[in-house]
Amino acid sequence: MSDIGDLRIRPNEARGAPAAEDSPPQERKLFVQSFGCQMNVYDSQKMTDLLGREGYGAAAGPEDADLIILNTCHIRERASEKIFSELGRLRELKALRAVEGRKTKIVVAGCVAQAEGAEIHRRQSAVDVVVGPQSYHRLPELLRRAEREKHVVDTDFPVEDKFGFLARPTPAETRKRGVSAFVTVQEGCDKFCTFCVVPYTRGAEFSRPVAAILEEAAALTAAGVRELTLIGQNVNAYHGADGRGGEADLAALCAELARASGVKRIRYTTSHPNDMGEALIEAHRAQPKLMPFLHLPVQSGSDAVLAAMNRKHTSAGYIALCRRIRAARPDIALSSDFIVGFPGETDADFEATLQLIEDVGYASAFSFKYSPRPGTPGAERTDQIAEDVKSERLARLQALIESQRQAFNRAMVGRTVEVLIERRGRHPGQIAGKSPYLQAVQLEGGDELIGESVAVEIVATGPNSLFGKLASETTARPPAAAEQSARGLV
Ligand code: 5AD
Ligand code: SF4
Repeated sequence: MSDIGDLRIRPNEARGAPAAEDSPPQERKLFVQSFGCQMNVYDSQKMTDLLGREGYGAAAGPEDADLIILNTCHIRERASEKIFSELGRLRELKALRAVEGRKTKIVVAGCVAQAEGAEIHRRQSAVDVVVGPQSYHRLPELLRRAEREKHVVDTDFPVEDKFGFLARPTPAETRKRGVSAFVTVQEGCDKFCTFCVVPYTRGAEFSRPVAAILEEAAALTAAGVRELTLIGQNVNAYHGADGRGGEADLAALCAELARASGVKRIRYTTSHPNDMGEALIEAHRAQPKLMPFLHLPVQSGSDAVLAAMNRKHTSAGYIALCRRIRAARPDIALSSDFIVGFPGETDADFEATLQLIEDVGYASAFSFKYSPRPGTPGAERTDQIAEDVKSERLARLQALIESQRQAFNRAMVGRTVEVLIERRGRHPGQIAGKSPYLQAVQLEGGDELIGESVAVEIVATGPNSLFGKLASETTARPPAAAEQSARGLV
């Protein structure tokens, strides 16, 4: 996405609330439910921190909460509709709690809030506050207003710096992030792909200054975070003030972050092919802390569809870019987003997408049926594709991606890779972490390894994770170029 219309909209949702163990005794309880992308997860954490300072502690679930925030996603129709059915359930919960004499405030935040505004109150009057992604730093004030007014809406794109308002998190707040944390470095998008709502909901592109990001990163690493994922709708278009009167690009920002010894791994997402500059490609060759995984959405393999989507790149241009990236970092795992059934997409267009997937060779990918979003040019087109055609194309595309994902994972068996241990595993005596290629890895090991990067020999693959054992050697062996070229087809 920039492509990302959301930073990777994941099929799963993240539920977030502050960890109870760090909270002082508090009267009011907060429950935040986050839908959609990683930036929403990050924003939910920031709202939790902010309201923690207003005296809100963790609720075990919505039933227990005096304040419920739905941090919403508008990227596809089903994502939006889900919010309204959830709000229906919350209305009943609110009424039930009222009978017991307990007040409940409901806040709708995020991209549905931005897109629908006051309409949300019309569809669901139990909602107290509607707040867009650029004004949630005003939540304490909006909640105070909601004590006096029935329906409060703030969908401004304020001039003040939201991040400046969100005070630096306290060590207790930061500890909740664990070993791997997101840091928003860039927000918004000026690219206006014709299917995408992001330029309307998240607004124009904005990059945070380097110093602010370094400060946030320092707080995170001091609290035990070892892996930073820099997030932005257009993250590789990052161009933040460098504090010396100039601007830093994403490669320069990564170099600054890599200087901190506490930072062991750096990732970033989501990138647009047209912003994948030489310096960043070179960083993948030269910067060992930059992980060999790149989410680089292409959306379609047909030049006609790419033009209709206003992507401003061609299929051949994208493939050539992947080739240059693999020349710099032969073992890099590539990932993408695909949309099937964009208006006017012919069978031949779709076959071109399958061909591109064959040519590139992906480690993983997200794929979606085109969903017309109100207000975007794609939704106005009269040549929408029938639902059954979209479904059939999606199934074929997903089967191909799945076979590539499994092949990529199987190729890991017998290799030794660095795994950053993030948490206990599902069973006693197990720990779990991520490979450099963003694969989940489970192994036997003690809790003392959480936060450590350890060499792990991969012994087997499962449907969703790899299984490994601690390798006797301490340093992981980098993959040989020959092993890589067998996998990377570009
Ligand atoms: N319909 C289907 N998928 C969409 N995406 C964005 N907008 C739409 C839409 N209207 C997908 C794109 C994007 C990802 C985050 O969501 O593939 O990269
Ligand atoms: Fe990404 Fe295009 Fe949406 Fe921007 S408009 S966020 S580039 S998909």
